[in-house]
Amino acid sequence: METEWVKPQDGTIPAEKIKQAGDVIKRGGLVAFPTETVYGLGGDGLNPASSKKIYAAKGRPSDNPLIIHVTGREALPYIVKEIPESAEELIAHFWPGPLTIILKKNDRVPYETTGGLDTVAVRCPSDPVARAFIDAAGGYVAAPSANTSGRPSPTEAKWVYEDMKGRIEMLLDGGSSEIGLESTIVDLTEEPPVILRPGYYTAEDLSEVLGRVDTDRTILSADSGVAPKAPGMKYRHYAPKGDLTIVSGETEAVVSYINEETKRLGAQGKRIGVIATAETIARYEADIKKNVGDRNDPASVARTLYRVLREFDDEEADIIFSEAFSSAGLGQAVMNRLLKAAGHKVTKV
Ligand code: TXA
Ligand code: MG
Repeated sequence: METEWVKPQDGTIPAEKIKQAGDVIKRGGLVAFPTETVYGLGGDGLNPASSKKIYAAKGRPSDNPLIIHVTGREALPYIVKEIPESAEELIAHFWPGPLTIILKKNDRVPYETTGGLDTVAVRCPSDPVARAFIDAAGGYVAAPSANTSGRPSPTEAKWVYEDMKGRIEMLLDGGSSEIGLESTIVDLTEEPPVILRPGYYTAEDLSEVLGRVDTDRTILSADSGVAPKAPGMKYRHYAPKGDLTIVSGETEAVVSYINEETKRLGAQGKRIGVIATAETIARYEADIKKNVGDRNDPASVARTLYRVLREFDDEEADIIFSEAFSSAGLGQAVMNRLLKAAGHKVTKV
């Protein structure tokens, strides 16, 4: 299959291309599209055959459910059994935006989309191209992140193309993703609600609206031995090809440790990469150095992390060291993704 990469003209995707993309979805085909978090790999969320195609294109296990993307609260009654008060409040505060809610599904949502679960994840993106496309597609677009399973989520159209070329009919290019990390997921079928995946909206943001909100234990503790409730969170994810280790400790100790390891492993012929921040990058001696953002601005790190992980693949790093970041606020989502990328390998110095 030929994949048509649709680039913006005068800063926007032409209306006739959005319509064409919507028609592809209605016919049961696949289209990748930009959102404010990461690019999505879209199909008709109410068509079981489309969901099967999504799993095949991604190489993703089919027990890992998809998020249905809608453009507003009005879309919910058609696909869920009930809309609890907690959902009404979160929607009023955070939609459209990077918040996914889990509700009880009704019979219109096929089990192929929910990985066999009786619940459905629903998200209402704010990105204007995403919104126009979802409307053109009939209003219910199932979409995981548009990467091959196991690779970092794409934050640029070129990485979607790299992973999905020949597997999808169209790619709508919306430029760089604004947020750069996937949405926060909260399960509203539980009381109190439970955060299954940290994201741009933090536990504090949600508790300001809802009162008590719990966070899935497996997010707080890497080695709790309990299976995560969002099936996708159990898989190794976001992984670069090089062997990634997070080094945590006082800045001075981290810099010296990484520089010593660079010397030692460099002598064995390894190509070493470092993920550092604007404040420290100049102090490293590695072959490849990547500035992932500003230490005091977790949003800058969120926006850049997946790009940096992808670039290490292109530059063929054998071994990568990353500084650790604060887990406060949005930092929790950043560290959650970094820990997964590192397969939870952390060296404390
Ligand atoms: O920001 C995002 O959410 C992006 C963009 C494209 O919208 N999408 C995304 O989708 O990250 P995906 O498929 O890569 O991640 C969805 C996560 C998976 O971990 C999946 O297991 C979980 O959501 N999930 C989906 N439906 C669920 C359900 N009914 N119950 C529990 N977890 C669910
Ligand atoms: Mg994903």
